[in-house]
Amino acid sequence: MTKIQQDLEDLTQKATSALIACEDAAALEAWRVAYIGRSGLIPGLLRNIKDLSDEEKRTVGSAANALKRELEEKYQEQLHVIEKGASTRGVQATNCKLQAGGGHLHPLTLTLNRVHEIFSAMGFIIADGPEVEEVKFNFDLLNTPAEHPARGAGDTFMVDPMSVNGAEDLVLRTQTSPMQIRSVAAMQLHPPFSVIAPGRVFRKEKVDATHESTFHQFEGLSISETTSIADFKSVIETFFSAFFHADVVIRLRPSYFPFVEPGFEVDMSCVFCKDGCRVCKHTKWIEVMGAGMVHPNVLKNMNIDPDKYQGYAFGGAIDRLAMIQYGINDIRLFWSGDVRFLRQFDRVIPAKAGIQVDPPSRRAGVDAGSSPA
Ligand code: PHE
Repeated sequence: MTKIQQDLEDLTQKATSALIACEDAAALEAWRVAYIGRSGLIPGLLRNIKDLSDEEKRTVGSAANALKRELEEKYQEQLHVIEKGASTRGVQATNCKLQAGGGHLHPLTLTLNRVHEIFSAMGFIIADGPEVEEVKFNFDLLNTPAEHPARGAGDTFMVDPMSVNGAEDLVLRTQTSPMQIRSVAAMQLHPPFSVIAPGRVFRKEKVDATHESTFHQFEGLSISETTSIADFKSVIETFFSAFFHADVVIRLRPSYFPFVEPGFEVDMSCVFCKDGCRVCKHTKWIEVMGAGMVHPNVLKNMNIDPDKYQGYAFGGAIDRLAMIQYGINDIRLFWSGDVRFLRQFDRVIPAKAGIQVDPPSRRAGVDAGSSPA
């Protein structure tokens, strides 16, 4: 690049940013004189062209002329804006103001807050833990055998030891279940206790309308000497009823997770219909979480005596709850950053603290709502 070409580029940058900064007619006139006026910098540059070779004259000359035309056009635009009474700065400031006034919570945050609120009202304490997790917590201590398919690199994001000072055996947690073990240890919980741990999880999913590689779960754990499946059923029914402001019934189907025995899939009665609709795929039931009674091996890993204590654990997806609640049909919208999607939540009133949740009369045995000892 010749010196004159370099000067031309520098000048373009300088002239453009100086033009944007012009807030009123006086500033704009000063800019015009300095850059495109008869004795301004651009004509000055054009005058220097005469010293160049014929070849250079052609290329640099046409570039300089194009720049001059472009700046003249921009000048006219800016003049128009200023004459209309709104400098570019003013416009930007107005936008900022609008954004500040119109800010609102993301639908996932709204949903997460509601989950917090309802479980807190039932006496669950809230725990938070790491997203980059040790294989030990994500799998081993959760009774997941070494040959379990979920442990493979096909399903799980492995953390490259080179990126974490050589630390081995780290993964992006595939579930919030490691928080079962972690929260008991970190908070030195002794039964009876009930804890809820919401957070982000990661899986190597093929992303489509219902699957994301990053989503959010809430893990629940409740342990005492007598906690039963009936307790679980009533607490979860209370939760979904409060969440959807409806009389929700839940049903359990047998399922398998290595860290619970027995394990089940939890369905809730459809809150949108009585006879079947699109949301429940005409089954009248909506699948909402995995759960089960904590496996004795896992209790041992929590240093809790399985001969004396028992309890349930569950894991639901916040994203799925938000989709059901707001009628969102594509999970990818959450991360899309599309303001047309997000703006629809600007009227949603954030959950208030101190919600009252009526315990269902069927709740028996341990009071899952009691605070940890
Ligand atoms: N961690 C399980 C999942 O991600 C859900 C679960 C949690 C199942 C607790 C049972 C008990 O699918």
